[in-house]
Amino acid sequence: MANVVGKRNKSVNFDNRIVGGEPVPVEMFPASVKFYNFGAFCSGTIINSWCVLTAAHCFDNNKEVYDMMIEVGARYTHDSGGDVYEVLKYVIHEDYNKTIPFSCDIALIFPTRLMKLGNKSKKALIVNTNKWMNVTEKNIIVTGWGWTRYGGPISKPGLMKTYLRFVSLKDCEEMHNIRLTPDMFCLYGEGTRDTCKGDSGGGVLWNDFVIGVVSHGDGCARKNKPSVYANVWYFRQWIKTQMEHFVEKVCDMFPPD
Ligand code: ARG
Repeated sequence: MANVVGKRNKSVNFDNRIVGGEPVPVEMFPASVKFYNFGAFCSGTIINSWCVLTAAHCFDNNKEVYDMMIEVGARYTHDSGGDVYEVLKYVIHEDYNKTIPFSCDIALIFPTRLMKLGNKSKKALIVNTNKWMNVTEKNIIVTGWGWTRYGGPISKPGLMKTYLRFVSLKDCEEMHNIRLTPDMFCLYGEGTRDTCKGDSGGGVLWNDFVIGVVSHGDGCARKNKPSVYANVWYFRQWIKTQMEHFVEKVCDMFPPD
């Protein structure tokens, strides 16, 4: 496991929620959901009423579906207003962690029942172009409920958002002095804005599209240390295939009379 981006626990920034962001109501980001996995706190993005996109590493601690929960439409971490869903099945990318640590850091979660969509819960669209992948793009937004302090209380202001700028893989590799893979991309907030611990699995949004999944970084909002994301454009076929497989399996489980 040489060359990991970051000694992740030695974060220099102990104010560990989305760094440099602002609180937002869930109605503004209705595709963002919380994903609790037995001690691991992650986020996710609604893809449709039966599927949530998240990061593969959110399953590192636990693989048992009975200890997982998705919460939709709740602004604050201790809200009771959200809709809670149990998990029927999940699929982690088969090449997760294979070539380098955190490669293919992407997964899908299927709840036990359909998620109710409304003004606090909407689906994001899977990006259908790679036009956002350029350094002049200004519309790249990340959201999350990340923790306020490492291992400490979760974000009091609830859901937060900030904007970040695209950094090419080559520049990102140079800044971290490691090799990255084409299934990843990097975002930077000038050392003042960033995602952080607890934001993992959450979506990177570009207009109505989800373009990335929060994966990892070297601390949070450190100077010249862009954070790393799974590239949804790269995984679009994988996502489609997995959703088709799931539908086929469910139809096998409940055959028509
Ligand atoms: N890996 C972290 C998590 O599990 C997210 C890291 C995101 N970004 C960063 N700059 N550290 O919540």
